[in-house]
Amino acid sequence: VSTPIDLHHHGDAEVAPGLVDLAVNVRHQPMPAWLADPIAASLASLAAYPDPAAATAAIAARHGRPADEVLLTAGAAQGFVLIAQASRGVRRPAVVHPQFTEPEAALVNAGHAVERVLLRAADGFRLDPGLVPADADLVMIGNPTNPTSVLHDRADITALARPGRVLVVDEAFADTTYRMGVDGEPESLAERRDVPGLIVVRSLTKTWGLAGLRIGYLLGPADLLTELRKAQPLWPVSTPALAAATACASPIAMTAEREIGREMAKDRAWLTARLRGIGPARDGVAEVTIAGAPASAFVLIRLPGADKIRVTLRERGFAVRRGDTFPGLGADYLRIAVRDTATTDAFVATLTDVLKESL
Ligand SMILES: Cc1ncc(COP(=O)(O)O)c(C=O)c1O
Repeated sequence: VSTPIDLHHHGDAEVAPGLVDLAVNVRHQPMPAWLADPIAASLASLAAYPDPAAATAAIAARHGRPADEVLLTAGAAQGFVLIAQASRGVRRPAVVHPQFTEPEAALVNAGHAVERVLLRAADGFRLDPGLVPADADLVMIGNPTNPTSVLHDRADITALARPGRVLVVDEAFADTTYRMGVDGEPESLAERRDVPGLIVVRSLTKTWGLAGLRIGYLLGPADLLTELRKAQPLWPVSTPALAAATACASPIAMTAEREIGREMAKDRAWLTARLRGIGPARDGVAEVTIAGAPASAFVLIRLPGADKIRVTLRERGFAVRRGDTFPGLGADYLRIAVRDTATTDAFVATLTDVLKESL
């Protein structure tokens, strides 16, 4: 890979005290008691080494799988590293972009030459399975995708599976998706045990505001997970993180997730409507275009000159995520977190002012 993109840049680097954070996609809400209490109670047993059995069983039950098809990790980020480290026999790994950059970074760190599959803006960044090289033996894709917020069809993703290929689907944001009339997470493959070589990556850090605790997990065939487990250090997930995993697999958590997803869909519709309300380019004011069909906790926009506008927005108190560190995007893209309507209104008013002043 020759493009000099900083794959290690993440939204947290754009946040600073005093700025409204629209750059990091972690939900900022008080922790519910059903989650806070077990985490706090776990502190009483910190003298013992962590035992993942109960949390593994709880996550397995949540997804209707046997326990040996679950591997708990220190966040989804560790999952990517395990996959990259354990993929020594892989010859042609392909990463579907634009997407979160850590999967590629982990592969590169493990010595792999990564092939980038670039989805097209003209297609609304939707997956075209035909773009993935037929002989790629490891394919990594995000669903819903960070930063495009696009939710690919399940059938397009499973079309990528084949014997001899490991297919990794990063579903870190699956719990942020919602579709009216659908019970559960639309397009998620977490429960699918019939897709050859499928590993689903999940995170509990986003919706539950646990980025500092580090908790996520992998779902997949037992033989593949056994190989990944060997790449893991001893006791990779702390006792408080295990307590959180158990709590987040409970029926109360799943009901709460669906409710959060439903509310977020409204906040997302509000954000997209307000952004569209800025209107077409006129009087020299640049046009804001929503890229793709957003389905997650953030919205990607295309805005000529976005790199400069981002700097001005910072001066006016708003941190948004730059687009130029994502392969397949560029300096004209910004990613904006979905927040409550008051925050969105304040942001869009400021963005509108900045655009007018930049005439
Ligand atoms: C798409 C995506 N996957 C995975 C991660 C990592 O999540 P975790 O905090 O569980 O390591 C992130 C974090 O930003 C992300 O955006």
